[in-house]
Amino acid sequence: PDPRPTDLVVFGGTGDLSMRKLLPSLYLLDRDGHLVGDTRVIAVSRDGLTDADLRDKASSAVRGHSAVQVVEPEVLRRFRGRLSHVTVDVGGDPSGWEDLAAALTPGRDRVFYLAVPPMISGAICRGLRDAGLVTPDSRVVMEKPLGRDLASAQAVNDEVGAVFDEAHTYRIDHYLGKETVQNLLVLRFANVFLEPLWSSRWIDHVQITAAETVGVGGRRGYYDSSGAMRDMVQNHLLQLLCLTAMEPPASYDRDAVRDEKLKVLQSLRPISGSAVAEHTVRGQYTRGTVHGDEALGYLDEAGGPPTSGTETFVALRAEVANWRWAGVPFYLRTGKRMSHARSEIVIRFRDVPHTIFPGAATAPGAGSLVIRLQPDEGIHLTMLTKTPGAGALRLRPVPLELSFADTFATRSPEAYERLLMDVLAGDSTLFMRRDEVEAAWRWVDPIIEAWNGLGTAPETYPAGSSGPAGAQRLISRTGRMWHEEE
Ligand code: BG6
Repeated sequence: PDPRPTDLVVFGGTGDLSMRKLLPSLYLLDRDGHLVGDTRVIAVSRDGLTDADLRDKASSAVRGHSAVQVVEPEVLRRFRGRLSHVTVDVGGDPSGWEDLAAALTPGRDRVFYLAVPPMISGAICRGLRDAGLVTPDSRVVMEKPLGRDLASAQAVNDEVGAVFDEAHTYRIDHYLGKETVQNLLVLRFANVFLEPLWSSRWIDHVQITAAETVGVGGRRGYYDSSGAMRDMVQNHLLQLLCLTAMEPPASYDRDAVRDEKLKVLQSLRPISGSAVAEHTVRGQYTRGTVHGDEALGYLDEAGGPPTSGTETFVALRAEVANWRWAGVPFYLRTGKRMSHARSEIVIRFRDVPHTIFPGAATAPGAGSLVIRLQPDEGIHLTMLTKTPGAGALRLRPVPLELSFADTFATRSPEAYERLLMDVLAGDSTLFMRRDEVEAAWRWVDPIIEAWNGLGTAPETYPAGSSGPAGAQRLISRTGRMWHEEE
């Protein structure tokens, strides 16, 4: 469907997500002609800002965003003209809802974006309904984390579901908006050569890594009650696992794709009780140096308690217990304050069943397909190649490289640009369905429970390192290695 002029109402509209991601992405959409007609953005908060205050905040946010390299004054003026601010105290003084009603355009498509902690999503939806602001076509967008366990996710889904039906509910996992992630589906299902190899028959194991150099920054308060498992694994990493492991859907249709992802989540072998110590590792960063800069330890970061068992790193070994993947480990790993910022999916193929070059000197790392999400988005296929020379036969792994930046002259849109565009157009293929989110919690909950039961602290790792020693043991126990060490 083509987008129509829309009133986009952002609750939490002056918050961190809005400033860092949503407003800059909306500016870019405006620049590229994707905000149709007089589409408007109404930021809602308790801050009591004037429209002018909000516009100034938004201008700084746009100027400070790396993807907006050059701010075009004409576009910025037009974009500022779309912005307004309404003060609503959810659960408090009801007059804010009337102000919001007055700010909306009758008869217009409405999108309500909840960039707020999930506990207040239900109250916002009820407020919208009671103020008569929800029209039959209104859509709601929910941010992660969606709850902090299965029960709270179900409660949020019920509360929001009492006002918006599933077809109008858009649950964001911004990893699904990344170009390379969408490309993974194209790579797998628009080419014929991978599918015959895509199973335990030819794949030894899979690694999914999302490593960041940043720490928790100003988000310690949120982060301390979340941790890497809820912040990254439950959503982003499991979604990547789903797209890697799923069966071919019958079409690129929202439910066809989501049905297949759900089956993967339901096939994950549970990790609970004593298996947790064997298959998972938690870490927490301590003081260190990242790219030459001193970095605080997690416990020294402002906004949280001086002692805390919250993990800033997780590595685990998952298994998709179905016909295609039985016996293939999926190693998942994410951490803050690591030595390099790198997100990638590595498919490590098996060694050949019989080598005819038994005496050849070789190196590890052969036979992998690397799908790099960031930085340097691209696809690398590493294969063993003969090193030139007339002497003894030497084999070396050499990558065939596809760099998106070099191949395509166009800029890759930010994940949020893509997803906001889809919400405005009413396309929910790249959003999570209720059952997917809940299936992910069903698998994650017992791991967190077992961690809590162990009563031990996460292993420490210095900021700027490759994570705790346990992460090495987790993978080397079976004679394998993390990709960057090969
Ligand atoms: C967010 C997490 O969902 O993803 C953050 O809450 C994390 O903690 C971020 O930093 C990572 O996103 P990206 O796009 O930078 O990989």
